[in-house]
Amino acid sequence: MAETDVDLVILGGGSGGYACALRAAELGLSVVLIDKAELGGTCLHRGCIPTKALLHAGEVADLARESEQFGVQATLHGIDAAGVRKYQEGVVSRLYKGLQGLVKGRGIQFVTGEGRLVSPTAVRVGDTTYTGKHVVLATGSAAKTLPGLEVDGDRVLFSDHAIKLDRVPASVIVLGGGVIGVEFASIWKSFGSDVTIVEALPHLVPLEDESSCKLLERAFRRRGITFKLGARFAGVERTDQGVRVSLENGETLEAELLLVAVGRGPISADLGYEEVGVAVDRGFVKVDAYCQTNVPTISAVGDLIATPQLAHVGFGEGILVAERLGGLPVVPIDYAGVPRVTYSEPEVASVGLTEAQAVEKYGAEQVKTLTFDLAANGKSQILKTAGAVKLVQEKDGPVVGVHMVGSRVGELLAEAQLIYNWEALPSEVAQLIHAHPTQSEAVGEAHLALAGKPLHMHS
Ligand code: NAI
Repeated sequence: MAETDVDLVILGGGSGGYACALRAAELGLSVVLIDKAELGGTCLHRGCIPTKALLHAGEVADLARESEQFGVQATLHGIDAAGVRKYQEGVVSRLYKGLQGLVKGRGIQFVTGEGRLVSPTAVRVGDTTYTGKHVVLATGSAAKTLPGLEVDGDRVLFSDHAIKLDRVPASVIVLGGGVIGVEFASIWKSFGSDVTIVEALPHLVPLEDESSCKLLERAFRRRGITFKLGARFAGVERTDQGVRVSLENGETLEAELLLVAVGRGPISADLGYEEVGVAVDRGFVKVDAYCQTNVPTISAVGDLIATPQLAHVGFGEGILVAERLGGLPVVPIDYAGVPRVTYSEPEVASVGLTEAQAVEKYGAEQVKTLTFDLAANGKSQILKTAGAVKLVQEKDGPVVGVHMVGSRVGELLAEAQLIYNWEALPSEVAQLIHAHPTQSEAVGEAHLALAGKPLHMHS
């Protein structure tokens, strides 16, 4: 049985695992990175990147369809699903090659194969045992379904199937109005499908500030996307044309396809974690604020731990672990300060606390909010997008939450994130001159107004 000894053995080559490998190698540690599939994981091959390519293709379709509004004569002849796939695959494969080059260039040994934790310092792949001074678990997450709801990849899909679909369906029911559900609803509507979202909670993207949920719902209504809120799934049957979904309220819905987007769960079973003594809670590997498990030589990062399931959180956690093991000083991540974007049309972007969270934390008397409507922002009018920038402030203190809805507002989060994480006062941000005409001005104007000197804001 072959043995390989290194500083760090990482199980899982997705965002969390490969970021940890790259940073550790930069710090001079020897690294083995193991994955049963392609380097890059869900984000690159089945998640963020391929879906955002689909969303961009959808945006191009919408622009062609609506070109007349801009005085441009164009006709949308249809969506060439194979052409969209080719574009999407081209994006993924360029990034994949780049990532492979980075890993190779930093001298990281990438091993393809199913790994299993066999001791506090070792992972076995086939007949080979990789031993490290430390092990990092980064085996990610997989789509969940509901009891009795079988996902066959044909009529009933997970997002993994949906990104590879070879056609534009005539109609789709999307189960779950969270991030994945809303993004696919947006894609399919742009491609011309009839879309109905079924969401158990009272709002779409229910974790966002309620004002953002309402703005997104208004925009989706205008786009002709149907959604049933407070509606729970009861069952599905196959029909000649597709699927018939029944809801607990007795209503039935029919469509060609059903997308199941009710959350993702950690991949931690049957990998040797519990046998080696790693504490696991409802499938999530338990860690402290430094991503260390109860076994001192084992850390865990990414979707496998109970922190926000976002690729960039995985990057951050991977870097934190690499730096800690590399002997650098590290500080815990403030998860509220991590930016969040739902890349639908329109986009929903936020950082920090929602108004409800701020009220819970500081008390209603100590929270001030301000909403700047994109109707007063020149660039948003040029783009013909509706939405708003909402600020949540600790009274007489810093901005503790920024919530935005509108086309392209995800790009405004970089500034919002600095504002939150640097605990900026509205008056400090109001001092910064924003470029005109940009959508970023809406962030500036919201702070001008909150600082008591509104410019283009109607009272
Ligand atoms: P999610 O947790 O965001 O949303 C699932 C939704 O399904 C919830 O709103 C829930 O109330 C609803 N639901 C659950 N059971 C239901 C039932 N029986 N009937 C009706 N509705 C029901 O999970 P999602 O959208 O599957 O995404 C998984 C993870 O991936 C999330 O943590 C998300 O943040 C992440 N992700 C992030 C993206 C981004 O940052 N842009 C893109 C895609 C995924």
